[in-house]
Amino acid sequence: MFWPDTISKKLGIKYPVIQAPMFGVSTVEMAVAATKADCLGSLALADLSAGQSVELIRKIKTLTDKPFAANIFVHHIPELTDSLKIKYAKTKQFIEQLAKENGIEVALPALEEINVNSYQEQIDVIIQENCKIVSFTFGNLDDQSIQKLKENGVTLVGTCTSVKEALLLEKSGIDIICVQGIEAGGHRGSFEAENIPQIGGLSLLSQIYDQVKAPLIYAGGIYDAKTLQAVKDLGAQGFQMGNLLLVSQESALQPFEKERLKRVREEDIVLTKSFSGRYARGVKNQFIEMVENSEYILPYPYQNKLTNALRKAAKSLQNPEFVELWIGQSIHQYSELSTEEILKKLIEACEK
Ligand SMILES: Cc1cc2nc3c(=O)[nH]c(=O)nc-3n(C[C@H](O)[C@H](O)[C@H](O)COP(=O)(O)O)c2cc1C
Repeated sequence: MFWPDTISKKLGIKYPVIQAPMFGVSTVEMAVAATKADCLGSLALADLSAGQSVELIRKIKTLTDKPFAANIFVHHIPELTDSLKIKYAKTKQFIEQLAKENGIEVALPALEEINVNSYQEQIDVIIQENCKIVSFTFGNLDDQSIQKLKENGVTLVGTCTSVKEALLLEKSGIDIICVQGIEAGGHRGSFEAENIPQIGGLSLLSQIYDQVKAPLIYAGGIYDAKTLQAVKDLGAQGFQMGNLLLVSQESALQPFEKERLKRVREEDIVLTKSFSGRYARGVKNQFIEMVENSEYILPYPYQNKLTNALRKAAKSLQNPEFVELWIGQSIHQYSELSTEEILKKLIEACEK
């Protein structure tokens, strides 16, 4: 039997293969397609409001009866100090000017127009809507939320990027730990936004396996049967992939973005905090080059909220230089098949 069964049994799925939550790229349809391949679909709720989260949860429930994970961001929200308010205004002006010089007319929101939501509101709706699996990133849940979720029979999957973070998750009773290697596409799931651990999957997974008893999902660089086999050998019992599905039929990326990803070269892939204020792995472009080492990066979620309108405007202009294009280190032949087919092919290759 190829597949370890601890995680499948806990989550009620056939294969311990997880479609990565990818806010902005994964869709309800992608999660449903993953469930059709008898894998775990993930519904990316990021830091959406309670109302927006309910809408998506209800939508996925009309499309599948199979298990899926509701995925949320559990970051700490920085206090709005006077110096942050001043920095916000300066950053807004700088980015609007940068956009204008590059042919993008966009008005970015004033600080008062930004809605910053707390994940605790999402926890309440996740319980109300009877979701059975919650995965999270950017930190650990607070004790009260953990207790509430557990009392309601919810299985918890926390993300870590270091041994220290894995031990903290385990200590607070998180059921399954998702180990994210530095190879991974998208945001680093680190607990802190600054001085993040940057540990390669090989080192990280094997050390966590030696020190933690909770079952481990591995995320970061899996793109075929041999990479999956490698992390299985290192102790992973669940296998999460995002990069593999970026160009799939159900991806929300537009054709020009998919084309850019297909042309990516090794030297194009960087870690950047310029778009959101948190480090994420993606394709280097003009925006990153202009902002990365500047003083115009606000702490998450403010940078993210500030740049949102610019990214949308650039998307509608099909301008890849001002959109965030997240991608992992495992460059491969990005398939345009459906998520269901891509996952089924991977499973078949693993079982050969
Ligand atoms: C476009 C994109 C968006 C992502 N968004 C999220 C997210 O919303 N929540 C989350 O927990 N992880 C997110 N991630 C990280 C993935 O869950 C996962 O760790 C990563 O894709 C695994 O590495 P791989 O891309 O090499 O497969 C994202 C990754 C990508 C590529």
